[in-house]
Parts: sequence; C-alpha cells; structure tokens
Amino acid sequence: MEEIVSLCKRRGIIFPSSDIYNGYAGFFDYGPLGSELKKNLKDVWWNHFVTQREDVVGLDSSIIHNPTTWQSSGHLDGFSDPMVDCKETKLRFRADQLFYAPVILQGSRVISFTFKEVIDATPEEMKLIPSPASGKPTLTAPRDFNLMFETRVGAAVDDSSVAYLRPETAQGIFINFKNVLNSSRQKIPFGIAQMGKAFRNEITPRNFIFRSREFEQMEVEYFIPPGDDVWEPYHQKWMDASKDFLLNEIGLREDLIAWDVHEGNKLAHYARACTDITFKFPFGTQELMGIAARGNYDLTQHTEGSGKSLEYYDEETKEKYIPHCIEPSLGVDRLLLAVICSAYAEDEVGGEKRNFLKFAPKIAPIKAVILPLLKNKPQLVEVARNLFEKLQKRGYNVQYDAAGAVGRRYRRADEVGIPFAITIDFETVEDDAGVTIRDRDTTEQIRIPIDDVIPYLSKAIDG
Ligand code: GAP
Repeated sequence: MEEIVSLCKRRGIIFPSSDIYNGYAGFFDYGPLGSELKKNLKDVWWNHFVTQREDVVGLDSSIIHNPTTWQSSGHLDGFSDPMVDCKETKLRFRADQLFYAPVILQGSRVISFTFKEVIDATPEEMKLIPSPASGKPTLTAPRDFNLMFETRVGAAVDDSSVAYLRPETAQGIFINFKNVLNSSRQKIPFGIAQMGKAFRNEITPRNFIFRSREFEQMEVEYFIPPGDDVWEPYHQKWMDASKDFLLNEIGLREDLIAWDVHEGNKLAHYARACTDITFKFPFGTQELMGIAARGNYDLTQHTEGSGKSLEYYDEETKEKYIPHCIEPSLGVDRLLLAVICSAYAEDEVGGEKRNFLKFAPKIAPIKAVILPLLKNKPQLVEVARNLFEKLQKRGYNVQYDAAGAVGRRYRRADEVGIPFAITIDFETVEDDAGVTIRDRDTTEQIRIPIDDVIPYLSKAIDG
C-alpha cells in the first residue's frame, strides 16, 4: 500500500490535504492526474446510468439540507459507530462488531484486545495501549459516536442554527422524490441518480482514500412497487448492472472483485437485503460498493417528518402506495483507489523492468501523448503541435512531449497510464506515410494516416 500512496503523490494523482501544514487526517487533494481520473470515473458512471437510460434521471441537490431531514432519516439518532477510548493515551478507536466479544473482561470492563481486528488500530497504535499486565483497565466500554459533521447556518449562535453536512447523497434524492416525479414524465419503476460530496466524521479514517472524512458518492435510488416478492428481481438486475459497469466500463480486474451478501445482523436498519461488491485491496478484501434493497423506510420516514404525502399513484392499477427502492451506492474515491490498484502493473520491456498503469482508455487521465521524433526540427514540431491542438479541441486530454529519447518518453507515458503514444517522424512529413501509434500494454506499434488518428482514438476510447 505504501507503494501506491507514494506513487499517487509522485505522479500527481493524490496528495495529503493541507500537505504544507503536515496534512489533515481523513482529507485528500486530487492532483492534475487524479482530478482528471476522478472526473472520468464520474462521467462514465453518469453516462452509463443516466444518459444512456430512459428510466433514470439525474439530480444535484444541496449538500446541507433542512436539519429535520436527518431527524427523519434516523441519522441524528442512529448514524454512529461504536467507539472506545484508551484511558491513558486518550487515543480513540472505532470498534467493529467483533468488539462485542471482547477477549478479556474485568468486572464489566473491557481491559484488553488481543487482535488488531477487534479495534481498528494500527500496529503502531496498538503498541501505545498499555498491556493488561499492568492490571489497569485501559479501554473504555464502547459508546456510540455520531458520524455527522455539524456546522452552523446563519448568524444565530443557539441550537436553531445547527445544521449538518450530508453523510450520504441518498437523502437528497428521497426528499426530492415528489419534485422529480411531478416535473419529469417518469413512471415507476424509475430511478433518480445523484453524485457528489459526502462527509463523515470517521473515528479512524484509514487506508488512504478508502475511508476518509470527505468523499464522493454516486448513488441511484430506483423506485419500485411494494410487495414481498417484487424487489428481488430488481435487486438482481442492479447487482448485475453494477458488476457489468465495474468490469466493462471501468475496466477493473475480474479476479479482484467478489460478492458479499449481508446476513441479517450486518444489515443497516433500513435495509431488507444488501449485497456488497468487494475488492481485493492491498490491505485486504473490503467493500467497494453496496446494492441495498431499502424497502420504503426512507420515504415513509420523510412522509411522517414533513407531513407531506410521498405516495405514488399508479394510473394503471388505480392504486396509491409508497414506493420501495433499490439502492446501488458507490464511493468515487474508493473506486479510484480500486482502479489504481487494479491498473498497477509490472513487466519487462527490452530487458528492463517497467512499472506502468494499465488504465482502460475510457478512464485514462491522459488519452495520448504526441511525440515529435526530434524537438529541433521545425517541420516535425509543426505537424506534431497541429495534431496535439486538434486532439485538444476534440476534447481529449493529451500531452505533448518533445524532451529526450523516444524510449524514455514512452516510459514516462507508461508510468502515468497514457494508453497511446503517437510519434511524428520524417516519414510522416516527407513521404506522407502517416504516424506511428504505440499501444501502452503490448508496446506494439502500427502506422496509420494522420487523418485517421481521431477516428482511431475515438473507437479505442469511446467504443
Ligand atoms: N446511501 C447508502 C450509503 O451511504 P454506505 O455503505 O455507508 O451506504 C456507500 O456507503 C459507499 O460509499 C461505500 O460502499 C463506499 O464506496 C463509500 N463510502 C462510505 N463511507 C466512506 C468513507 N468514509 N470514505 C470513502 N468512501 C466511503
């Protein structure tokens, strides 16, 4: 994992937030390559699940909602993780479910945990917790720690100004259900998609951008009719669609992803069923996204909380009901980490070790690099600059690199995952013999007419 973190910093993908002030735990900044990669992931998701679907529409709600939203949704009372404190060091840890089977008890107090998995502590932090041999209780019993970030809205300094940064994008969808229904021509089943920032005051932000305090989500609430036997086929369809998206649109390696079906006691309070798609990260196999059957919990809660009807009238059956929903929910940052882990590759080229990023062309931050064979030959530079600018105007993020031997320039491009390297040589300008395009993964080169470069890239990138 250290290798990935340092690669991300070196190549301008991800920096620690506020780096010059020694960072800020749980927050990250995306550099030139990272911001492009992130934008591509979001564009591909939106294009796949909104633009290309008749039954899903988009939404961009505010991040701060009327605070009653969070009362109704249950977040103010229930959106918490169990936390333990080390009495001596004052360090705080998130306890996971295993915590409830603590290994050593003294009276009713928990004094020790022998497994790192029991509390979410790093080996370094574990060393700081006094051992039970001292005889003193070192850790408090778990208590709920609410993950909502509080802020204030307006000039008042009393409780009336307290508001919250959203911990999920989903609630913005539920509270807009009627607005969208009344303003679009959607009929159930249909979905509302939203992407954007979410904030959670995680007790122990961990594993780089895997669990951070500020992150982005891409979520769909897909509204369906009620009924005990209705949701399962829809749930299955969204599980299939999610897997298809991760493999065929994003290009994740299939051998790194798996299913994890939540059993009853692992289900969130609102869910009837939830299946995660997990990813084999360097620090272990963990949840990448969840596909939940959320019942009608949220719309029912917001009906009660707002006093407004959120019922749907089915014109065909003449029935009124509160719809149920299926929720595929994916974190952008977590996906980006999975993409980097999945793309990270090593091989040997010309007897030398090569490290490169095998991004699918569709999501690659830079699509092509334009290389004039020599930088001091004006006729080569002119053709290369023209091609470069033409590609930029077509909306492709491309790079121009004229410095150094071509082999070294290829290597630089491979390191940042540029799928195509286009070389302009003397044959291009003197014999009108076209350009060479080198494929990053196979290192094979083909020669094509310069006018075919755009159709070639368009086919490789956009499909
Ligand atoms: N609306 C449902 C919901 O928010 P969740 O399982 O809490 O469910 C959904 O979050 C997804 O959001 C996760 O699968 C993960 O990809 C991402 N996510 C959640 N918490 C995160 C965090 N602290 N940092 C980064 N991504 C996170």
